Amino acid sequence: MLVLGIESSCDETAAALVRDGREMVSSVISSQIEIHKRFGGVVPEIASREHLDKIVPVVEEAFARAKVTKEELDGIAVTAGPGLVGSLLVGVSYAKAMAFALSLPLVGVNHIEGHIYSVVFENPPVEYPAMALIVSGGHTNLFLVPEPGRYRVVARTRDDAAGEAFDKVAKLLGLGYPGGPIIERLAREGDARSVRFSVPRMGDGRPDFSFSGLKTAVSKHVRETNLRPVVGDEAPSQEIKDLAASFQSVVVRSLVGTMERLAEEYRPKTLIVAGGVACNNALRESSREAAARLGVPVYFPSPHLSTDNAAMIAAAGTVKLQAGERAGLDLNADVSLRLQNLDVEDDALRRGRVRYRL
Ligand code: KG4
Ligand code: ZN
Repeated sequence: MLVLGIESSCDETAAALVRDGREMVSSVISSQIEIHKRFGGVVPEIASREHLDKIVPVVEEAFARAKVTKEELDGIAVTAGPGLVGSLLVGVSYAKAMAFALSLPLVGVNHIEGHIYSVVFENPPVEYPAMALIVSGGHTNLFLVPEPGRYRVVARTRDDAAGEAFDKVAKLLGLGYPGGPIIERLAREGDARSVRFSVPRMGDGRPDFSFSGLKTAVSKHVRETNLRPVVGDEAPSQEIKDLAASFQSVVVRSLVGTMERLAEEYRPKTLIVAGGVACNNALRESSREAAARLGVPVYFPSPHLSTDNAAMIAAAGTVKLQAGERAGLDLNADVSLRLQNLDVEDDALRRGRVRYRL
């Protein structure tokens, strides 16, 4: 089964051809990072216009690289949400028009579900129940996945996403955009014990994440120590590197600590860590150590599959198409599309007896 995936939820226009849900035949990503860089974040208006410009050449390139024709396609999968409405609409409209013109089955894919499927290309098959930590610029959720296509959120961020925190702290320190890779690079030369940030805990005892307080703590530290943010192209000071390392370390401790604690409770057979922040090597290393303690494998996508791409959308879409799911031409972009579709008693899950109701 050959499926075309289309992704345009944020600032990447992407198209990919995937065979049988696991074999990546081609994957083309046109990133707008250079355009949004000078604004320090994604500007929605500019993003949708860029998608409009890029969608046709990106899809054509995916076919050219794969050396297949549109007539060989078996279906089309497109990101339907969550994301920026103007951006999503470009992909959704394009996919609908193409499905109509070629009389092909179409499915809408949740972007977060796509991230979960980003691990299928380079790892052994996922064993269920699985637990998936999705950490990106827009999302930070820990899902319990009792079987393919069934999702329950067991921890989520109450405010900023982890990637957003990396981006905001980088901006605060005068570093570039996106902040994650820059902070990771500086953190390698910094001392993570130099500034003591504590892992935020929820007042109601829920295992949720919170990153906005951390950003405030970094800003307070900058003020109190009269730390000078980096200006222009100058080399970052040792204090900036130490701060980057301390910040990264507490984010990783928060994410992995919660994942490990909930994995002890829910006993998954596989851990998945995906999304843009999964590029981070400190997060990978710490997740590997936690997985070893738990005695389960942890799967990551390689970096080009960690950030937004269309191969993961095609992979998730293939499962839906194979299950007979079809979207009509009334498929619409849903900016706050939710993935959780499992209504279970926590207790039943904890005892390993998973029941669900849709
Ligand atoms: O998945 P993604 O491409 O887009 C969203 O769906 O949000 O994730 C982008 C996010 C950005 O916030 C970026 O700073 C973060 O992923 N990121 C990283 C690293 N590489 C990208 N965060 C920490 N460490 C990295 N190495
Ligand atoms: Zn994403």
